[in-house]
Amino acid sequence: MKGLVFTELLEYVEENFGFDMADKIIEEANLENGGSFTQAGNYPFEELVKLLSALSKESNIEIPKLLEIFGEHMFTKLISLNPQLKYNFKSCLDLISNVDNIIHPEVQKLYPGADLPAFNLIEKLDNKIIIDYISSKHLEAFAIGLMKGSAKSFEEKINIKQEVNNGFTRFTIEVEK
Ligand code: HEM
Repeated sequence: MKGLVFTELLEYVEENFGFDMADKIIEEANLENGGSFTQAGNYPFEELVKLLSALSKESNIEIPKLLEIFGEHMFTKLISLNPQLKYNFKSCLDLISNVDNIIHPEVQKLYPGADLPAFNLIEKLDNKIIIDYISSKHLEAFAIGLMKGSAKSFEEKINIKQEVNNGFTRFTIEVEK
C-alpha cells in the first residue's frame, strides 16, 4: 500500500482526533517502522489494518465508518494533489465510471508500485451506474467514502447501495435529483 495513504491517514488523525491519538495508535499498532512513512514508499497493507484497528478501539468508531470518512477526505486530498485527474469529467458518475480505465491507470504512473483494485462498469445511465469492485483488500467502505467525496466535489448528492457477492462487490450509485 502506498505510503501516501498512511501519511494522509496519520495527518487526518492528528487534525481530527489530536496529536496524542496519532501517537497512541502508532504505539498500539506496534509498527515495524515506528510510524515513519514516506509518501512514495510502499508498505504492507496489514500495517494499515493495525492502525485502523487501534484507531477504532481508541475512538469507539467502527472500522468501516472510519474508512468511509477517511475516504471522503482522501478524495479531496488526492484531487488537490493531482487536479488534472478531475478536468475531463462533468459529473461524479462520469468520474466514478472512469476510475478503472482513466484515473487509476494515471495513478499507476504517478505512484509507481500502487496496488489498485478493479472496477468493472456494468451499466451506465444518466442518473445511475452499476459498477463491480474487485480487490482482495475489501476496502468497500473506503471506496464509498471516495465516491461520496467525488459527489461532494461536484456539489452532487448520491445514494450508494452495495451487494457483496462471491469475489466482487456490486455498487449501485444513483444521483439524487
Ligand atoms: C471515486 C473515485 C475513486 C474510487 C472509487 C477509488 C477507489 C480506490 C480503492 C477502493 C482503493 C483501495 C485499494 C483496493 O481496494 O485494493 C484505491 C486506492 C488508491 N487510489 Fe483510488 N479511487 C478513486 C479515485 C482516485 C483518485 C482521484 C486518485 C488520485 C490520485 C486515486 C488514487 C489512489 C491511490 C494512490 C491508491 C492507493 C494504492 C496503493 O495503496 O497501492 N484514486 N482507490
